[in-house]
Amino acid sequence: MRTEISFSPLAQIQTELLAVFATDTQTAKGPDAKPQPVLLTSDEKVRSAAAAVLSTGEYKAGANETILLHSPTGLSAKRLLIVGLGKKAKATVHAVRNAAGTAVRYTKPRAIRELTIALPENVADSGVSLAAETSARAVAEGSFLGNFDADTYRTERKDISVQSLTVAIPAGADQNALKTAFNEGVIVGESQNFTRTLVNEPGNKLTPTVLGQRAAEMAKEVGLKSEIYSTDKLHELKMGAFWSVSQGSAEPPALIVLKYEPEGVKDGPVLGLVGKGITFDTGGISIKPADNMEKMKYDMAGGAAMLGAMRAIALLKPKVRVIGIVCAAENMPDGKAQKPGDVQTAMSGKTIEIINTDAEGRLVLADGITYAKSLGATHLIDAATLTGACVVALAMINGGAFSNDDATFDKFQTALSTSGEKFWRMPLADEYYDLIRSDIGDIKNTGGRWGGAITAAEFLHAFAEDTPWIHLDIAGLAWIEENKPFIAKGPSGVGVRSILEWVRSYAS
Ligand code: BES
Ligand code: MN
Ligand code: ZN
Repeated sequence: MRTEISFSPLAQIQTELLAVFATDTQTAKGPDAKPQPVLLTSDEKVRSAAAAVLSTGEYKAGANETILLHSPTGLSAKRLLIVGLGKKAKATVHAVRNAAGTAVRYTKPRAIRELTIALPENVADSGVSLAAETSARAVAEGSFLGNFDADTYRTERKDISVQSLTVAIPAGADQNALKTAFNEGVIVGESQNFTRTLVNEPGNKLTPTVLGQRAAEMAKEVGLKSEIYSTDKLHELKMGAFWSVSQGSAEPPALIVLKYEPEGVKDGPVLGLVGKGITFDTGGISIKPADNMEKMKYDMAGGAAMLGAMRAIALLKPKVRVIGIVCAAENMPDGKAQKPGDVQTAMSGKTIEIINTDAEGRLVLADGITYAKSLGATHLIDAATLTGACVVALAMINGGAFSNDDATFDKFQTALSTSGEKFWRMPLADEYYDLIRSDIGDIKNTGGRWGGAITAAEFLHAFAEDTPWIHLDIAGLAWIEENKPFIAKGPSGVGVRSILEWVRSYAS
């Protein structure tokens, strides 16, 4: 999608569709309380074009609620689309991100290829107060996210993408600051869509080797160093845990290493981003039931999130060193596959008793985490579609977050307020670790029925050890089951924005 910034008065902008945001200022409750929608623009011509419909009470300006006017009086735009942000107290930058997505998703299937979105203004009667820069960034992010659909392999794709987006900026704004913020949003939105494209790919198209190729191509494009390794390197590094997952597959594993080394940054933290890249998870010998197994193509979403974050980091250039590692493998049953009861030796030297071959994500991550530390990472974050138990605990609403260090986690919590993504911190404790002690070796790869997301996190903790570390379990968030007004069903690209913001919080 091409983008443009316009500083012209809204009424003069010639466009197929002009989208303007609105909020509901009604505070009274009860059957007689009529909604009081207010447009977030000071442009008198736009306000008067919408005045009649807004006064009827039929439009509530609810979150992502739309109403369309054709040939709006006094405007050069062919259509005026009003998109709701909800009640004024809820009209946050996150509502703006979604509403921009809604505007694009309204436009897309109607064969309209171009639209203009008016940056929301804090008009006096709206009670809304949004920083223009954060809104500009959110509009860009939301628009790019809205323009994505998962129908890659349809021979007749139903709707083509919107080709051109103009964002209209009100008079008096700091034009350069808004341009910078908007362009940042474009980078973030495109990076999240890069992740979604990878996650959407089926297991036969995106093998570990292909994921490695895609990562290397992206790295070349944005100027990251990349090294893509396979079986030999796993053996050389003694990555017995990672290798054990791939040993039952005809597809060789890929160890993907991306390095971002900004000029002049020679000390300070080195951030290690480690992603689970299981390109298909059958469960292995502990095979999964057939129902929904097709979904397990998205078991590389954590790895893809790290690749999307690395892309955005390379383009936004924060002054902090970052290493991205994706452990990619296919988990298959086979004559050569590992078996329950097998004992594997991880790169760290710890011995792991395999109880269930379907708990494979923690195995590849264990070696990924050890490797990140060996490359000098001082702080770690991992992301993985790790456990069904996490989805049982938090539904498809919050991702699970774990950390061994409060200061590190605080930075992540702050990142969430910028990203708008939802993660809920869950506990770690020695008592949970006791559940995964092995009789034959050091540690077991499952801890029984209870607290499954936590025992999985404790397993990773045993490899992160004292290095400040955050673990994100995105099993419930990586795939969106139903279409929403602002985003298509399918791969979500969750994690990219939060991980990026966390990384930026370390920039010197
Ligand atoms: N990839 C799955 C977890 C998953 C489940 C992701 C549902 C997305 C949606 C993971 O490898 C797995 O199979 N976990 C097992 C662990 C168990 C064997 C301890 C699980 O959650 O059942
Ligand atoms: Mn599994
Ligand atoms: Zn898995």
